[in-house]
Amino acid sequence: MTTENAWRRLSEHAEEVKSLHLKELLKDEARIDSLKHRHDHLLLDFSKQRIVPETFKRLAQLAEASDLTKHIERLFEGDIVNQSEQRPALHTALRAPKSTQIEYEGRNVIDEVYESLGRMDEIVTQIHAGQWRGFSGEPITTIVNIGVGGSDLGPMMACKALAEFRAPTEQKLEFIFVSSMDGSQLAEVLDHLNPANTLFILASKSFTTIDTLANGATAREWLCNASGLDDALLMKRHFIGVTAVPDKANEWGIPCENQLHFAQWVGGRYSLWSAIGLPIALKIGMTGFRQLLDGAHSMDQHFRHTPFERNLPVLLALTEIWNINFLDIHAHAILPYDGRLAHLPAYLEQLEMESNGKSVTQSGEPVTRRTCPVLWGEVGPNAQHAFYQLLHQGTERVMCDFILPARRYDDHSDELKKQHRLALANCLAQSRTLALGDDVIKHAENAPAHKRYPGNQPSTTFLLDELNPYNFGALIALYEHKVYTQAVIWNINPFDQWGVELGKVMANELLESIENQETGNFDGATNALLTEIHALNQFCQYKDQDTTS
Ligand code: F6P
Repeated sequence: MTTENAWRRLSEHAEEVKSLHLKELLKDEARIDSLKHRHDHLLLDFSKQRIVPETFKRLAQLAEASDLTKHIERLFEGDIVNQSEQRPALHTALRAPKSTQIEYEGRNVIDEVYESLGRMDEIVTQIHAGQWRGFSGEPITTIVNIGVGGSDLGPMMACKALAEFRAPTEQKLEFIFVSSMDGSQLAEVLDHLNPANTLFILASKSFTTIDTLANGATAREWLCNASGLDDALLMKRHFIGVTAVPDKANEWGIPCENQLHFAQWVGGRYSLWSAIGLPIALKIGMTGFRQLLDGAHSMDQHFRHTPFERNLPVLLALTEIWNINFLDIHAHAILPYDGRLAHLPAYLEQLEMESNGKSVTQSGEPVTRRTCPVLWGEVGPNAQHAFYQLLHQGTERVMCDFILPARRYDDHSDELKKQHRLALANCLAQSRTLALGDDVIKHAENAPAHKRYPGNQPSTTFLLDELNPYNFGALIALYEHKVYTQAVIWNINPFDQWGVELGKVMANELLESIENQETGNFDGATNALLTEIHALNQFCQYKDQDTTS
């Protein structure tokens, strides 16, 4: 079957299914049963999606017509799947066993993966043992990761999610993540940190990202002023660089022995499994970090070898394609019912929207169908008191991911156990109400309009047995492969991000005008704002001079 035929068959099918309400669909027990799929410790329940078993059959035909199996092999084999940058995307190699062979540019990439892991292990062991010492001889107790995008969101998310798997260390380590270009996060933390026991990890694949380098320069100045010591010594004791471009880290002054490297074929938003994951390994130890990699590897194997009709990333991708391209749903909410997953929505915003926010095909033609929806989210129970109103009664159709661990707090107090049961009840209550609307109560038809609930908002429930490094690794890999599957079907490149480049060029031009207090050759609106900014800054300067004289 050609892809066009598969799209057409789905459009015809959509005409029949569109009018079905979830309150009808959820009466069919056999349907519910057939729409639950499990891998390892993760169950995906698609029964609250507006689909019938035939929908998956037709979607699977679309996947087949799009040559998905061949494209999955290309990803794992290290083929050039990132065409605009002419490189593979081998994040799966970062979690593959040592015995794996993947050739790229005449080398087995697994060798460099394990070399980097070995180096990471040495650093982690040294810091955990209290042997990495600051300028005054005190052991390091505070780790500040400076990075942005993929060099920040993944490690920050994982460190929060897995905090209770903290490795035993000589000294308790504190972890801080700093990303904002304007220095507000850094300025706040520098106020209370002790420079003698603080270690900065400068994490940047390119080592040219101005946000990260600017924060790095502020940290460097702070250390220098606080210690009165020479820069080379401070670099050696207080900075680690993580990058794919060692020359740039050298230029910045980070000594070679304080650098961890990873390859250009690791995409920024796919890099938490690489040396960018150093804060994670510092937090949960190398054993925990390896469990995280193992969980992701298990999902990799599942994605690579399972038939589409039971393949979790494929089913997830296809369901969303159904929502986006056939049911006209263009908003996607990520709703974890577990505070430990607080950073998951931000992480997925980058993973999904930077990967699939594209409107030209691999060959440069405009796409003819919609691609990535707008995605956002929040810890579910908090969002209930914020934007759920729109989910229940707004005009926007929104697909939701409800993510929850079934078990938590096994060794904790009764009150905490009760809090977990509260979260479980709320999660199930929300997905049920969104699906069924006011069908869940009696005599709803007599209620006034502002108390009616239309329901029929589709959702997928992700039920994890429990949250631990292994299961968390599998969950993130699931999303990565979903994104890839969608990109294959939309025929777009999920591994570049040219859309963010033009803004960087413009910012450089504007910075010059701001530094020189002049208006440039910009559009009228920008020039007018520059004039206001210059005037306000000059006014403040005069005022400051006035008060000091
Ligand atoms: O500008 C976008 C981006 O390149 C992301 O793709 C990336 O994760 C982030 O910036 C940070 O890049 P780097 O790790 O090179 O500093």
